[in-house]
Amino acid sequence: MVYLTRRERFNAAHRLYNNQWSEEKNREVFGKCANENFHGHNFELFVTVKGEVDPETGFVVNAHHLSKVIKQEIVEKLDHMNLNKDVDFLEGILPSSENIVIAIWKKLEVLLDDCQLHCIKLIETENIYVEYFG
Ligand code: NI
Repeated sequence: MVYLTRRERFNAAHRLYNNQWSEEKNREVFGKCANENFHGHNFELFVTVKGEVDPETGFVVNAHHLSKVIKQEIVEKLDHMNLNKDVDFLEGILPSSENIVIAIWKKLEVLLDDCQLHCIKLIETENIYVEYFG
């Protein structure tokens, strides 16, 4: 089994806020991340797929195709967007990094039919990242 990772970057704004809670509770749990006018991150996304190497191509996956799907279906929809408002596949979802990687996994899982997803990793700041293995 060989693992291949594609890295992408995007900038986006979000706000961590639970509508079911009071202003005070949001402030207590999310701190500055609950600020009304949003804040931004330079996100780094790593999509790792796995599979056996095709003896004819020497590839585990067609990296060109993989890159195209990630760019079109994920990065284009997230880059320079407000994750609370602008992204169809995040509608109704509190856009924490945790929830974002799960949503990306669900979307890519159906789109990538020629390889198996292994991990979605999202770096939010230089000190924090999340990983989802499905
Ligand atoms: Ni944030």
